[in-house]
Amino acid sequence: MKKAATLPRKTRELHSHHFDSTIWNELCFRDDDIVISTYAKSGTTWMQQIIAQLLFRGDPELSVADMSPWLDLRVPPKEVKLPAVEAQQHRRFLKTHLPLDALVFSPKAKYIYIGRDGRDVVWSLYNHHANANATWYAALNDTPGRVGPPMPRPPADIRRYWREWLDGDGYPFWSLWENVRSWWAIRALPNVTFVHFATLKADMPGEMRRIARFLDIPIDEARWPKIVEYCSFEWMKKNATKSVPLGGAFWDAGAEVFIHKGVNGRWKDTLTPAEIDEYDARARKELGPECARWLASGQV
Ligand code: A3P
Repeated sequence: MKKAATLPRKTRELHSHHFDSTIWNELCFRDDDIVISTYAKSGTTWMQQIIAQLLFRGDPELSVADMSPWLDLRVPPKEVKLPAVEAQQHRRFLKTHLPLDALVFSPKAKYIYIGRDGRDVVWSLYNHHANANATWYAALNDTPGRVGPPMPRPPADIRRYWREWLDGDGYPFWSLWENVRSWWAIRALPNVTFVHFATLKADMPGEMRRIARFLDIPIDEARWPKIVEYCSFEWMKKNATKSVPLGGAFWDAGAEVFIHKGVNGRWKDTLTPAEIDEYDARARKELGPECARWLASGQV
């Protein structure tokens, strides 16, 4: 039984090298909108692919990144992005990385929040950041509208990167704790569902059926094997230019860099037992035991 919760209200704007949260204030919500929300590096692109394949009954040609823009990314600016989104004829499925208190929450839309252990997130983020090219830095740092410091180059050592992220509350990105905590508080709302990366990995077809039910998307059983195939890691890696933002233009080695390994636990060989315990304790302190357990494992 889902617990009752009150409707969330936006209380602030978020601006940074990545964010312009104000775009949501101007979006005209439709009754069937879908919003995909994550901290980052938690399976956002995977979920966009799943929803696209469910909606379009298994179509290998879909340009999912174009169909499902990251609304609060400040490039291209909202003057460009909003008209494109308002012109979409298909059922919209929009991406956000905002904490809930910086987002306009509509009772019309359905929200899917995807979680992943913070350590897996950082290992994925490091690959994303360390391989990013000059085009990525130019988009974040040199286009008009940036608020706050520029995006720095990452240190060569992933353990230092990890330390700076943990001590700097998500530095040089944004706070994981704030993001997860804000969404966890509304998990009981009927238009919200939670998915965990590990659960999706363990039973993708089962989770896809649950997501389809939540979104009221009928499944074309004849197309089901193809729908599932096009959401697999192997297929997405091979066809990464279709689902990765800008076809992978931010990475010199291309879109496959973004669909990197698709597994959890890569940090286990690098972090010491003390560092692992430190993270677990911090997660419990920041999120409370129930939410911390869910974020680490997908179990409640
Ligand atoms: P890794 O870097 O750990 O491989 P996001 O889209 O939120 O940025 O998340 C990117 C992460 O999701 C990457 O993790 C990527 O490999 C993983 N991913 C994308 N599609 C996937 C799939 N079909 N199966 C498993 N992992 C996938």
